[in-house]
Amino acid sequence: MPMIRYRNVLLATDFSAAAREAAAHAAAFASASGATLHLVHVVEEFAYWESFSLQHFPSPEVYEELKSNARIALEDLARDAELGGDVAAHVRHGKPFVEIIRAARELEADVLVIGSHGQSGLSETLFGSTAEKVVRKAPCAVLVVRHPEHRFEMP
Ligand SMILES: Nc1ncnc2c1ncn2[C@@H]1O[C@H](COP(=O)(O)OP(=O)(O)OP(=O)(O)O)[C@@H](O)[C@H]1O
Ligand SMILES: [Mg+2]
Repeated sequence: MPMIRYRNVLLATDFSAAAREAAAHAAAFASASGATLHLVHVVEEFAYWESFSLQHFPSPEVYEELKSNARIALEDLARDAELGGDVAAHVRHGKPFVEIIRAARELEADVLVIGSHGQSGLSETLFGSTAEKVVRKAPCAVLVVRHPEHRFEMP
């Protein structure tokens, strides 16, 4: 069997606790194999019908601000001492699972690392909806990292 060499490790983060846990695993993978660690955050596009529940439909300026905040947050994450080595940050805009899959394709990710849950963190569900769709549709291996709060306790 040919040995797999990880060249590109892709961490998708929504800056949640589970994604932070995932970042530590992604960094370990990348440093063990001398891979580039790609950090991606997707600024979520609100669908037209979703905007009815918002006070104001997000304007292009709002999205620009969200993107620039995300860039700063990714740079902070990249500066984190644990994430040494070759790190690249990517901010995208759209539907999170679609853009995560697209980024995995474009960056030729060998492994995609995600949290089991994210910002909305409904612990009763097995996976968050982004995590579930990413697992179903990813073009590469996926490592799903559980936050300690979501770990199964033996009865
Ligand atoms: N906007 C995003 N950009 C990048 N990665 C994301 C984004 N949203 C989620 N992820 C990744 O997916 C993981 C799981 O998040 P997910 O959104 O599935 O859970 P949730 O927010 O708890 O549930 P839901 O969004 O279905 O209400 C996160 O830990 C993160 O790794
Ligand atoms: Mg979510």
